[in-house]
Amino acid sequence: MSAKLVVGTQWGDEGKAKIIDYLSGEIDYIVRYQGGANAGHTVKVKDETYIFHLIPSGILYPDAICVIGNGVVLDPTAFESELDSLKERGIDAFHRVMLSETCHIVLPLHRTIDEAREAQAAGKKIGTTKRGIGVSYGDKVTRIGLRLGDLLETGYLKERLGHILEIKNAEITRIHGLEKIEFNELYESLLAFGDRVRPIVKNTSFELNRALGRGKSVLLEGAQGTGLDIDFGTYPYVTSSNTTTGGAIAGSGISFQYLKDVIGICKAYVTRVGEGPFPTEIHGEAGEHLRKLGHEFGATTGRPRRCGWFDTELIRHAARVNGLTGIALTKLDVLSGYDEIQIGVAYKRNGERLDAFPGMLENVEVEYESMPGWKQDISAARSLSDLPAPCRAYIERLQELSGVPISFVSVGPGRDDTIVV
Ligand code: IMP
Repeated sequence: MSAKLVVGTQWGDEGKAKIIDYLSGEIDYIVRYQGGANAGHTVKVKDETYIFHLIPSGILYPDAICVIGNGVVLDPTAFESELDSLKERGIDAFHRVMLSETCHIVLPLHRTIDEAREAQAAGKKIGTTKRGIGVSYGDKVTRIGLRLGDLLETGYLKERLGHILEIKNAEITRIHGLEKIEFNELYESLLAFGDRVRPIVKNTSFELNRALGRGKSVLLEGAQGTGLDIDFGTYPYVTSSNTTTGGAIAGSGISFQYLKDVIGICKAYVTRVGEGPFPTEIHGEAGEHLRKLGHEFGATTGRPRRCGWFDTELIRHAARVNGLTGIALTKLDVLSGYDEIQIGVAYKRNGERLDAFPGMLENVEVEYESMPGWKQDISAARSLSDLPAPCRAYIERLQELSGVPISFVSVGPGRDDTIVV
């Protein structure tokens, strides 16, 4: 059996959750492999809207098992509140979730430091979600992180947390001028969390490979997008994990040989939340207009998203880095009503076309192509032939410029508002 991967190709918020939800119906295991509660995955089923931050949205299907892989940074408070709010809505998720014993824990102090760094960064803010993501990954790679499995061993936890707090308290008090974190309260709360989740803490890499070997299906759910990848994104205005295909393998521990399909999610235009370069950004009233049309406000922080035209240089970059086998084009309905639609077709610097998406976006100019828009509401379309001719031409041109087949087109937020090409 093979695994499928869904990745974001832009700067996150491409509508991944809607496509993941669409694909999850026939999947046995749905896996988050990176990021943490910085993600905000919105799924609309009939009149109900669900927003997920940590638990894969596949939990809405009663037989799916949802896995939080080793590459995720797990915030116990966010995880428990997500479980509680699902329970309030009649979904008892606990026994259908598996947590990796080696995923790292986001401590409250990670959130405190994230906030303090952003507040003290003056003109150099990243515009993080303040969920402690970068600080937690930083501690992981500098080997002063705490892993979920560590919470299950009382003696080990005591010693390890003591060591971590010694280092982190020096940072908190000396650099940020904040109160030091007391050991006991944190220790007790971590111990209690470990006890509660003990039955669902697993060697998830082993479980997933075994399931794949037995013919089960796996869907890997990416968070954020290629433009936010720590290596391939617009550093330093990125998140702190590999959001791309390499991250999916490292963050889930499945053998790469199982991975057969990589579906890149592209919004029919582009958005970005937080700081950082955005070559096809539409400024001023026109940008505001698109934000209103697309209801572009962050699902995690509520921040207004910056909006821009479709950028095919970015998609070609995402296609290469992720090995995309197909594209799902989302929110196409939002563009109905425009007389003309712009497409960013190439980047230039000093008047010369660049070969590819560059490592640094400074002084990049965009070459645009203009296409006629369409006026009709397309939200009821269920096949390509239901779409007006200029809309079909726009899809075809994006496919041609991206070099990847468009396999799905989404024309509304609901499960059924989807065209399978
Ligand atoms: P962090 O992941 O909270 O450290 O934020 C780093 C950057 O990634 C900021 O620009 C955030 O706005 C952005 N970011 C993080 N998660 C998401 C997401 O789920 N959607 C869109 N942007 C995100």
